Amino acid sequence: MATTNFAINIFILSIISLLSVPCLLSASPPHSPYLLPIKKDPSTNLFYTTLAIGTPSKSFNLAIDLAGENLWYDCDKNYNSSSYSPISCNSKSCPEDAIGCISCTSGPFKPGCTNNTCGASAINQYAKFIFSAGFGEDIIVISQMEVHGLISACVEAEGFTSGSPLEGLPKSTKGILGLSRSQLALPNQLALENKIQPKFSLCLPSSNKLGYTNLMVKSIDGSVSKFVQTTPLIINPDSTGVVSVKGVPSKEYFISVKSVKIDGNVVNIMPSQLSIDRKGNGGTKISTMSPFTELQSSVYKPSVQDFVKRALDRKMTRVASVAPFEACFDSRTIEKSVTGFVVPTIDLVLQGEVHWSIHGANSMVMAKENVACLAFVDGGTEPRMSFVKASIVIGGYQLVDNLLVFDLDSSKLSFSSSLLLHNASCSHF
Ligand SMILES: *[C@@H]1O[C@H](CO)[C@@H](O)[C@H](O)[C@H]1NC(C)=O
Ligand SMILES: *[C@@H]1O[C@H](CO)[C@@H](O)[C@H](O)[C@H]1NC(C)=O
Ligand SMILES: *[C@@H]1O[C@H](CO)[C@@H](O)[C@H](O)[C@H]1NC(C)=O
Repeated sequence: MATTNFAINIFILSIISLLSVPCLLSASPPHSPYLLPIKKDPSTNLFYTTLAIGTPSKSFNLAIDLAGENLWYDCDKNYNSSSYSPISCNSKSCPEDAIGCISCTSGPFKPGCTNNTCGASAINQYAKFIFSAGFGEDIIVISQMEVHGLISACVEAEGFTSGSPLEGLPKSTKGILGLSRSQLALPNQLALENKIQPKFSLCLPSSNKLGYTNLMVKSIDGSVSKFVQTTPLIINPDSTGVVSVKGVPSKEYFISVKSVKIDGNVVNIMPSQLSIDRKGNGGTKISTMSPFTELQSSVYKPSVQDFVKRALDRKMTRVASVAPFEACFDSRTIEKSVTGFVVPTIDLVLQGEVHWSIHGANSMVMAKENVACLAFVDGGTEPRMSFVKASIVIGGYQLVDNLLVFDLDSSKLSFSSSLLLHNASCSHF
């Protein structure tokens, strides 16, 4: 059923003859055994983590995707694991929305070539297709801790005649660690296994630094909790992302932005342009797969205009645009502080009257020598293909050095705004 509902532009490629599955999991943290390190890839501006899978254990770099529904990795032709166990199609572990049953009867058996295996999707928003993978279980090692019994998906990335599931991902990565609301995303699997409420944190690092995700947060650290604010996580009633299925709730994380302020002044945006409409378009989601925040044109234009006006008031000198950015300034005319360039503050005013404040370190990017640009991009007007389109997609650059805690059970997001304001960062906590 789910398969036939997939938006028509999406092709599901079946591995011709093979398929299989593996597993996952992680390690130690602020005070949790499920802490994974995060690095930023300088060429894609995407973020990735590292964990080890299988026996003998092999290390994998996986891109972090807040919209990702599972953990999938490339079990290439040289990969094998003696602890790997595929999930068979008739097993009760086979998720309801599995995409069919996959068979690899030619052998020899290995992860990536198993018979009668429950089919997974290896989704990557930068790939041209959705690729089929196989669900399985294997040992996942994180910070030296072995976790058993978690379900992941493995796909032989080179086994397709057109395209690759790894397209557009950082060169060093071999899959995706999904952190969405899906039951198969690790935070939910770990919570179920440990009989606690699903809650995870994400703290993305700036270039050359190490951030982290803690897949199982028990409580927010005392010193941090003082400056963390909370807003509801909204469920978009229509699925979003690569596969849009009408009437199936989105597994992505939306928050409700009520208005945008620049230096305390409300930007002239109609509230309807910020809310989710009947087709599931609109709203604000958080995406680690978008390097920079994307604003739909109706939100982008007035915001940039106001920012530029306030910037000129501060005697910042505007210079020629550097694509994809529009509002660029001579960086020598901007002062610096602990929160980066001293520029007009952008506040997202959220449900609950709390403000997500964006300062220079998260709003300005050096686009070339002596040129600092407002690090937001115009997301255009029309939804692309079948993609449901959010009004605001908060991207990676704006998330750096901001602590986010996703509480799936109470559907709340706790956020710190810039940790730099508190003399902290995602790398030194
Ligand atoms: C992979 O490992 C399994 C278990 O150790 C073994 O039975 C199988 O033959 C191996 N497959 C290949 C292709 O080497
Ligand atoms: C593959 O699985 C099917 C269904 O369980 C079974 O009928 C078939 O014999 C299996 N093939 C091989 C080569 O194991
Ligand atoms: C921030 O940290 C630095 C070095 O660790 C220290 O010198 C400085 O006093 C701190 N500032 C505040 C406001 O805590």
